[in-house]
Amino acid sequence: MGAPIVTTASITPPMTRERAEAIAAEFDLRRLPPDFLANPYPVYAVLRERDPVRTMPDGSWFLTRHADLVAVYRDAATFSSDKHVEFAPKYGTASPLYEHHTTSLVFNDPPLHTRVRQLIMGALTRRAIAELEPGLVALVDGLLDRLAARGGGDLIEDFAAAIPVEIIGNLLGVPHDERGPLRGWSLAILGALEPVLTPTQQAAGEAAVREMLDYLRGLVADRRRHPLDPQRDVLTRLIQGERDGQRLTETELLHNCIFLLNAGHETTTNLIGNALVCLHEWPQEKARLLQRLHEVRAEPQRQDEIPAAVEEFLRFESSNQLGNRRALRDTEVGGVRLPAGALVTLCIGAANRDPAVFADPERLDLDRRDNRHLAFGFGVHQCAGLSLARLEGRVAIGRFLARFPNYVLSAPPVRGGRARFRGFLRAPFRV
Ligand code: HEM
Repeated sequence: MGAPIVTTASITPPMTRERAEAIAAEFDLRRLPPDFLANPYPVYAVLRERDPVRTMPDGSWFLTRHADLVAVYRDAATFSSDKHVEFAPKYGTASPLYEHHTTSLVFNDPPLHTRVRQLIMGALTRRAIAELEPGLVALVDGLLDRLAARGGGDLIEDFAAAIPVEIIGNLLGVPHDERGPLRGWSLAILGALEPVLTPTQQAAGEAAVREMLDYLRGLVADRRRHPLDPQRDVLTRLIQGERDGQRLTETELLHNCIFLLNAGHETTTNLIGNALVCLHEWPQEKARLLQRLHEVRAEPQRQDEIPAAVEEFLRFESSNQLGNRRALRDTEVGGVRLPAGALVTLCIGAANRDPAVFADPERLDLDRRDNRHLAFGFGVHQCAGLSLARLEGRVAIGRFLARFPNYVLSAPPVRGGRARFRGFLRAPFRV
């Protein structure tokens, strides 16, 4: 094979130290230049070294060190996830986006957070997730068959994005022929979490919440009439509540269903898409992984190599790069005093490349062990769907590589261009 058609520089353009220092010197999440969005890591490195607990022009704080993120995640009593204060000026309190984001479990503290989380976790058991695997394998193989017949396609549209929508649809029992709008709704609603929101994005997010609420009212009414097994069906479980009467109100139920349908979409799409693009950028790692997979197939008793690789993809190109908290009292992080009310952005993408925790952090190392990345967050709000996401990543990436070990990107992939959710919109490839 000759030189690759799509070069690494056209995917992750390098940034000089000088340029990274210039962006870091004026760092403002509300004004991010395109070269930062293409490759934020050199800027994160400068911030981590020089100003790891950094004030931004709007008075909020930006954290980049792994230890500081862990400290904040651990102290949920001081660092609240409740977004009523933050989102009121952002969306306006009459906005459907405000009602949605302030009612979902991820943006709440106990007791609502605890009630909803317990209900969801009760249905996302190890067994329930393992039972999803055969259907997932069949789905992935069907997509691969179609790609093989066409000699390639788009890694995102035709593969990565086609998987989570079906898995989450199954989890909530959304009929197959009604899944079409789910991805668009999800992109619009989560897109409205970006640091800066245009009027068009806000309008699209609001329309998506309204349409999703309308749709879910019908789905919930139907499930009330025809409940499924609450051990397996998340929606039935959320409707029925636990036996001790922890029922959700209708508004809580609907908005948490919306959140569940959205939470695993773009994040998981980007895990799979980022991994397959990363392997194109790191051909030696790809070759080693393929060799390992070959050996594992010959000796099935050897541990599967894909799970460790999935953890490294999660670390290296974390699909969810930013988290947020609000200090409820005067406190201190990383030796810096924060006043009560301080808004804090947790930069997962920076923490996951912190040299204090990861050896040679700017290198994709699929052999990395003891990978304490924060891609799923940490503490009481740690991702409730992490086992499902890991399963989807393992099956999708593993089966793709087994089928198309020599896939090549046929045009430079197009990034989503967002700070919070990191991934690609398109990545054409051929086999
Ligand atoms: C690679 C895929 C995924 C990534 C990177 C990811 C990342 C995250 C992160 C960082 C959080 C914590 C937010 C915070 O602390 O503020 C979170 C929470 C959450 N995620 Fe995921 N997620 C993924 C897939 C999924 C899937 C497939 C589901 C659905 C089943 C899901 C459901 C949730 C839920 C329900 C929460 C809220 C948990 C809580 O507040 O207690 N996620 N996710």
